[in-house]
Amino acid sequence: MTPIHYRNGELHIEDVPLSHLAEHYGTPLYVYSHAALSEAFQAFDQAFSGTDHLVCYAVKANSSLAILNLFARLGAGFDIVSGGELQRVLAAGGNPRKVVFSGVAKSAEEMRQALNAGILCFNIESEAEMERLNQVAGSVGKIAPVSLRVNPDVDPKTHPYISTGLKGNKFGVPIGDAVRLYQKAADLPNLHVTGLDCHIGSQITEISPFVDALDKVLALLDQLEAVGIPIHHLDLGGGLGIRYSDETPPPVADYAAALRAKLAGRPQKILVEPGRALVGNAGLLLTKVEFLKHGETKNFALVDAAMNDLMRPALYDAWHDIQTVKENAGATTAYEIVGPVCESGDFLGHDRQLALAAGDLLAVLSAGAYGMSMSSNYNTRPRAAEVLVVGEQAHQIRQRESVADLYRLETLLPQ
Ligand code: LLP
Repeated sequence: MTPIHYRNGELHIEDVPLSHLAEHYGTPLYVYSHAALSEAFQAFDQAFSGTDHLVCYAVKANSSLAILNLFARLGAGFDIVSGGELQRVLAAGGNPRKVVFSGVAKSAEEMRQALNAGILCFNIESEAEMERLNQVAGSVGKIAPVSLRVNPDVDPKTHPYISTGLKGNKFGVPIGDAVRLYQKAADLPNLHVTGLDCHIGSQITEISPFVDALDKVLALLDQLEAVGIPIHHLDLGGGLGIRYSDETPPPVADYAAALRAKLAGRPQKILVEPGRALVGNAGLLLTKVEFLKHGETKNFALVDAAMNDLMRPALYDAWHDIQTVKENAGATTAYEIVGPVCESGDFLGHDRQLALAAGDLLAVLSAGAYGMSMSSNYNTRPRAAEVLVVGEQAHQIRQRESVADLYRLETLLPQ
């Protein structure tokens, strides 16, 4: 049985009816399944078992402490992109020795933090960053372990905003410059070359872009070995897609098998950085219908969640399935599912056939990844609470913000 399912005419997550959660914690509410999170992590881990590997969860997908802690307990490493994410990983009990640090514009302060924490590797994205890291490492008396993130110029065939491995993207160093840059890194006194990194994009639903990128990475690896630069680990990035509607992403076992076939006989440890595939389908956003409004050309369901809670529809025109918590609630009508924010771009779904009445609860599915972590306080809307369900037990893992929380750091001008 999937963790999110109808039972006795009502949508449940694991053994908890969503209506109970709405009653107890209010809406909008992010809700996650412990079983779904654990199973997704274990599927990745098992797909690479038998080879030296580390699954580094991409923290940006959902950085809630309880979720980081759950993955840390399962043995995960972490892919971070800021000093803030490092602090979260440490607060959640993550092991700094399993942290890789990606990102195109790491500040000197972030570099210092990561050096002092003793992370596994910096994924360097430019020559200038390499020089800064060398300097910062020297100033704190440390040697920084580094990979270069190479841009293989492979089309991941995904939304342009989340494609990162094309020549025109800001990410990584051109693969053609990599040998020269590796030689420079090897010569810098405060850097230690340990790995080679590549991440081409997100929500990738075919295997071929991953394999094409790996082919290019392995050709580079051979060149590096030929010039005497040993590489101890290969970081293949994240990006494996999930099913939101009718996509058919490869199962993680097939994705891993395709990569492993190419890697056979290579001694390097394998790192992967999945985000969405670990959390996306383990979470939903629970919201309540405030009003129904029948416009001249469209019917609107005005709900209490908005683009500030789940930005993906507004930002990428992303499609999330939306289901009524009550099963088979009667005759359906086409609704625009929209929030209270003052923008026409504030929608969660267009043209959804649903049977609705004011006060009904809706579940916006596949919202575990890039939902809460991209939420904002636009329109002075306190961010949602979060609940993690384990069987029959619901644990509140984040309190709902109060309005006072939102302006706590603000001050009036003096009289
Ligand atoms: N590693 C690096 C270096 C990344 O930049 C990313 C995502 C990942 C790993 C994880 O990728 P995943 O496995 O989650 O696809 N906000 C967008 C997605 C942005 C992805 C950014 N980088 C969305 O909601 O679709």
